[in-house]
Amino acid sequence: MTRQTDIDDLNKRGYASPKVVDWYDELDFTHQTERVILDSLLPAIKNQKLLDIGIGGGRTTKFLLEISRDYIGIDYTAACIEATRRKYPRADLFCCDARDLSIFPADGFAFVLFSLNGIDYVTHEDRLRVLKEVLRVLRPGGFFMFSTHNRDYRYFNKLPWQEGIRLNLGFLKNCLYTVAFLPKHFRMQRHEIHTDEYAIVNDNAHGFSLLSYYVGIDQQRAQLEAAGFVDVEAYDMEGSKVEHDRDSPWTYYLARKPLFPG
Ligand SMILES: C[S@@+](CC[C@H](N)C(=O)[O-])C[C@H]1O[C@@H](n2cnc3c(N)ncnc32)[C@H](O)[C@@H]1O
Repeated sequence: MTRQTDIDDLNKRGYASPKVVDWYDELDFTHQTERVILDSLLPAIKNQKLLDIGIGGGRTTKFLLEISRDYIGIDYTAACIEATRRKYPRADLFCCDARDLSIFPADGFAFVLFSLNGIDYVTHEDRLRVLKEVLRVLRPGGFFMFSTHNRDYRYFNKLPWQEGIRLNLGFLKNCLYTVAFLPKHFRMQRHEIHTDEYAIVNDNAHGFSLLSYYVGIDQQRAQLEAAGFVDVEAYDMEGSKVEHDRDSPWTYYLARKPLFPG
């Protein structure tokens, strides 16, 4: 098996695990930065055609349906589609992979969302394919919003005790959790990729079961611009625009399809 196939298979398996599906099924919140960006976009996307990629248990379905009933949600994990369908039986939900959006015509959506770092679970080449596909299905002037793991974060790829010792219960619990999963973590690390542009690493998400893509703001901006997006904005986890950020584990992005072909 190539490393690329390993990454894809391990992540698909991780997301299909009943425990992980249940975890997403129970999420019910809107992140502060999501609110800041969506509030700013509301006049442009209210009652417009929206595509939600990687819906998990439907956390984003809830708030996007409030913005527009012209909503389509997709996920490559069938159990996630079933979980969301139980909550929103009338919503348009499909099992579909972000790497191949050919079921959707070009220039259709005013807004595409890939939330909670869902874009980070495909290989680098596939990530570039996802960006191209999203650009294709967006209307000219349409918006793409997503978040991704920040490789410039000061504690990138550090185990809890490598971040500095703290004397509190949360720190102790985190250390015990990590120790319990260390054998698995060492096995998963064999699949890691580290390059100048990005890294794919086994972090602590869902019991160290996934391989997650991490990228800094300069590199993510360059990827989006190379794919053909314009007006790229990066936001930290408090909802402030940033050019560089070592303090946030994730970065949110908003980018636009140009009004006219370049
Ligand atoms: C981190 S969860 C986010 C769930 C939900 N969007 C939320 O914000 O609560 C990522 C979701 O993306 C899905 N996913 C990952 N890669 C995908 C891909 N290539 N195509 C479609 N869905 C994908 C996973 O199955 C998972 O449900």
